[in-house]
Amino acid sequence: DWVMGDYISEAVQKIREQVGDEEVILGLSGGVDSSVAAALIHRAIGDQLTCVFVDHGLLRLNEGQMVMDMFARNLGVKVVHVDASEQFTGHLKGVADPEAKRKIIGREFVEVFQAEARKLTRAKWLAQGTIYPDVIESAGAKTGKATTIKSHHNVGGLPETLGLKLLEPLRELFKDEVRELGVALGLPHEMVYRHPFPGPGLGVRILGEVKREYADLLRRADAIFIEELRNTVDPATGKSWYDLTSQAFAVFLPVKSVGVMGDGRTYDYVVALRAVQTSDFMTADWAELPYSLLKKVSSRIINEVRGINRVTYDVSSKPPATIEWE
Ligand code: XMP
Repeated sequence: DWVMGDYISEAVQKIREQVGDEEVILGLSGGVDSSVAAALIHRAIGDQLTCVFVDHGLLRLNEGQMVMDMFARNLGVKVVHVDASEQFTGHLKGVADPEAKRKIIGREFVEVFQAEARKLTRAKWLAQGTIYPDVIESAGAKTGKATTIKSHHNVGGLPETLGLKLLEPLRELFKDEVRELGVALGLPHEMVYRHPFPGPGLGVRILGEVKREYADLLRRADAIFIEELRNTVDPATGKSWYDLTSQAFAVFLPVKSVGVMGDGRTYDYVVALRAVQTSDFMTADWAELPYSLLKKVSSRIINEVRGINRVTYDVSSKPPATIEWE
């Protein structure tokens, strides 16, 4: 629309003035904020921008491919795709504690990103998809107002280490505005209105030790859940259950339970489905999904994902439970 078009040309102008003919790097995560930042900066300076996409092996099904298709193929953005899954899995071996896993994933992420950034010797700027609520939150954290229950991994300190100037074109925007901007810049609606996904990814949705085998099972179960949420429309509102929930995902439980399939007995893993409704993610209600939807998801997961023979639905609200299981 007109207002957004105006906003874009102003933002583009500002980025060009700031950056001049220097080069910029940006860590693309597949999330909304870094994606919109990338699209905006690319609009402003084209090939002076290089994105680095670190795949830690804890992404959702086909997510790496989707990010590459959208940015590299459709938008023509320069993207360096780093497959670091072996490295991450290696460092996570034997580690079961949630905060320890978060620390390792955060640390490795910074390490891999830095190594890539150092190869781009001409870069003078580090771009980040920081949005207004992040600015507020980190200000709060510094004055001790915010209590960090789970350490959210970010790339704080990176620009200093790399000797880069910081470019944050979304700093003044709220989430809704970032989404509108993303759509106006040509990013697919489906991508821009995606549920949030934590930085440590499936690393905190596989309880205890992370294993490649668990991640592969979880990815497939999660994809089925999300597909059915997207495809099931609530007649009362005309919206899909994906849009009616704030966050929904599957969690891998590394316990085995007994089942029966055909003439045989199975002894396989369990997944829990989690779907919540919330306005601020500080408190959340579990979503009252239709039984027919739960039934379909459960039967599809058990039939299609060999290795999982039981599906449960999480009916805990926050507080006292958290949205993630770790
Ligand atoms: P909890 O589980 O604390 O989650 O109720 C609240 C919101 O924060 C997200 N979350 C994270 N995001 N790194 C992130 O980037 C993390 O370590 C992390 N832990 C939780 C969670 O997905 C939910 O949206």
